[in-house]
Amino acid sequence: MKMALVSLATIFAIASFATFGYASDPSPLQDFCVAVNDTEAFVFVNGKICKNPNMVVAEDFLFRGLNKPGNTSNPLGSRVTPVTVNQLPGLNTLGISAVRIDYAPNGLNPPHTHPRATEILILLKGTLYVGFVTSNPADPALKNKLFATYLHPGDVFVFPQGLIHFQFNVGKTNAVAFAGLSSQNPGVITIANAVFGSDPPIDPAVLTKAFQVEKDVIEYLQAQFWWNID
Ligand SMILES: *[C@@H]1O[C@H](CO)[C@@H](O)[C@H](O)[C@H]1NC(C)=O
Ligand SMILES: *[C@@H]1O[C@H](CO)[C@@H](O)[C@H](O)[C@H]1NC(C)=O
Repeated sequence: MKMALVSLATIFAIASFATFGYASDPSPLQDFCVAVNDTEAFVFVNGKICKNPNMVVAEDFLFRGLNKPGNTSNPLGSRVTPVTVNQLPGLNTLGISAVRIDYAPNGLNPPHTHPRATEILILLKGTLYVGFVTSNPADPALKNKLFATYLHPGDVFVFPQGLIHFQFNVGKTNAVAFAGLSSQNPGVITIANAVFGSDPPIDPAVLTKAFQVEKDVIEYLQAQFWWNID
């Protein structure tokens, strides 16, 4: 009986661990796997081809220039400068990446989600109004709950994986934040762009019903130019 209970506990532990592993970036399996665009290479892990480890150099793990402000002259007044595996090949298989985010006064990083990463944001300069909304609750008595606050220099805020979040510069100066993300390739879904700016457009009948507005409101939104901040 005791044995059976122990085995059951073990199976549960293994099952939850297996689920966790499936939901995360894969294990590196080796020290590193610097991504390289070379179809002659023979090691292929995690979607990228690994550079021959004997050819790997320090620069494969280096990205320079994150001290430079991003250009915020755009309709949203913000700019994300990503340092993912696409900019820093040494991040391949390591399950982590970074961004710099610049905000002009009134600049907005609009509601979006990273399907593959939790984000931890550190504000260096300025004042941000930030928040995220929880997923559709299993208990219908609970709302999609907003967790929002104001950040000042030195404040750190975390946006849990997959949840819709935003940052808005409510100060009179430019704001600068850096963030770490728990994936080498976090992905971004900007809500307005995905819903109203898809190519080809979603049938307005779908969005009219979903957003409970008249068709001309949807057509107006679909006719807008939806700027991608990164
Ligand atoms: C990789 O190489 C292919 C073939 O030469 C080229 O078309 C592609 O643009 C390259 N990709 C990158 C990211 O350099
Ligand atoms: C910033 O972007 C705007 C709009 O694309 C462009 O006109 C301007 O030259 C850019 N500024 C810098 C410093 O690159």
